[in-house]
Amino acid sequence: MGEKNKSNIDEIFDRVLDAQTKIFSNREVLTPNYVPDILPHRDDKFEELVKILAPSLRGGAPSNIFIYGTTGTGKTAVTKQVLSKLKKEAEARDLSFKYSYMNCQHVDTKYRVLTQLCEDIGIDVPITGLHFDVVYQKFKEALDALNTLHVTVLDEVDMLYSKSSESLYILTRMNSDLESSRISIIGITNDVNFKETLDPRIRSSLSEEEIVFSPYSAEQLRDILTQRTDVAFHKGVLEFGVINLCSAVGAQQHGDARRSLDLLRVAAELAERNGDESVTELHVRKAQQVIERNTVIEVLDTLPIQTKAVLQAIFIGEGKSEEITTGDVYELYSRICKLIRLDILTARRVGDLINELDMLGIVTAQVISKGRYGRSKRIHLTVPPRQVREVLEKEFRLTKIFEMEDI
Ligand SMILES: Nc1ncnc2c1ncn2[C@@H]1O[C@H](COP(=O)(O)OP(=O)(O)OP(=O)(O)O)[C@@H](O)[C@H]1O
Ligand SMILES: [Mg+2]
Repeated sequence: MGEKNKSNIDEIFDRVLDAQTKIFSNREVLTPNYVPDILPHRDDKFEELVKILAPSLRGGAPSNIFIYGTTGTGKTAVTKQVLSKLKKEAEARDLSFKYSYMNCQHVDTKYRVLTQLCEDIGIDVPITGLHFDVVYQKFKEALDALNTLHVTVLDEVDMLYSKSSESLYILTRMNSDLESSRISIIGITNDVNFKETLDPRIRSSLSEEEIVFSPYSAEQLRDILTQRTDVAFHKGVLEFGVINLCSAVGAQQHGDARRSLDLLRVAAELAERNGDESVTELHVRKAQQVIERNTVIEVLDTLPIQTKAVLQAIFIGEGKSEEITTGDVYELYSRICKLIRLDILTARRVGDLINELDMLGIVTAQVISKGRYGRSKRIHLTVPPRQVREVLEKEFRLTKIFEMEDI
C-alpha cells in the first residue's frame, strides 16, 4: 500500500512541478522587486538627473530636485539607478559621494529622518532619547567631516509632508548650515496636487529643479515588457496579442508600467496553474479581474471596525432599496452597533466616515438637499457588493449581522 501511495505522490509532484516549468523560465524578472539594468525610454530622465547632480561631485552645492509623475512611470527605478551608477563613477574617480534613500511611508518624524541619515553615513545614534537638535548637530558635523556630496532621496515625500512638514523645511535648508559638504534633496511624489499644497517656502527650495515623468505610451510599455519576456518565458508560450493587450491596459491606466508587468505575470501564473501550454488574451482578461479585485479587497481589509460597520450599513441598505441616504445609513448603522455592542458614533462622525469611503473611491456620496439636520446625501456603493461582503464576513462581529433574518 505504501508503495502505491508513494507513486501517487510522486505523480502529483511530477505533474505540478513539470506544469510549473512549462510557462516561466524565470518568473523573478516580472516581480515588483526586480529592476532591469537598462530602463527603456528613460534615458532622458536619467540624463537630466545626472546633469543636475554630477557637477557638484567636484564641489559646489547642487540644487534640490522635485520629481513627479503618475504611478508606475519609473520614478523610483530611475532615481535609484542614477544613484547607484553615480556612486560607482565617483568611486572610480576617487570622488566622495554618499546617498540615502528613504520611503516616507516608513519615516514620519524629523527625528526618524535624521537617525536614518546618520545610520546611512555610519554614525550610531539611539532610535529615541536624544534631543532632535543634538542629532542634527551630530549629523551635520559627521557629514562635514566627510567633505562629500550627499543626496537624500525622500520617496513618496507627500507622506512625510503630511506627517511632519517641518522635516522637509529643515532638510531643504541644511546646505546653509554645512561648511565643507553639500547636500541635495530629491523629493518624489505621484500626487499631482502635492506641489500646490506645499508651504511656499518649502516649495521654492524643494523644486529648484523639476523633473516630470510622463506616462508611458502603449508602444513604450510594449518595449518595457518585451525586454523581460525572453528571460521570463520559455520560447513561444506567449500567444500573439498578449503583450499588446498588457501594454494597452497599462497605457489606459495612466501609462503605468507596474500595472502592465503585474498583468503579464498574473496572466502567466493563471495559465501555469491551469496547466495550459500557453498564455492567451483570455488569461490577461482574467488577470485583470484578479488584480482589480485584490486592490479593492486590500483597501477594504484595512478599514477600522467602525468604518466597516458603516460600510455594512450601506451594503445592507442597498440590498433593501434603490436609493439610500445618509439618514438611512445612520439608522442601519446604529442598529448594527446595538446588535454587536459597538459604540455608536454621532451622525456627524458617521458622515465623516462616509466621506472617507468616498475619498477612497468605495462609495459615492452626492448631496441631495440641505435639511434641518445638515446636508443629506445619496450614498451608492461603487465597488462590487460581492467583494464588500467577502471582506465584512472576515470580521467576526459583523458576520453575525449577515446571519440575522432582518435587521
Ligand atoms: N523604463 C522602464 N523600464 C523597465 N522597467 C520599468 C521602467 N519604468 C518602470 N519600470 C518598472 O515598473 C515598475 C514601477 O516602476 P517604479 O517603481 O519606478 O514607478 P514609480 O514611478 O516610482 O511609481 P510610484 O509613484 O507608484 O512609486 C517597477 O517594477 C519598474 O522596474
Ligand atoms: Mg515609486
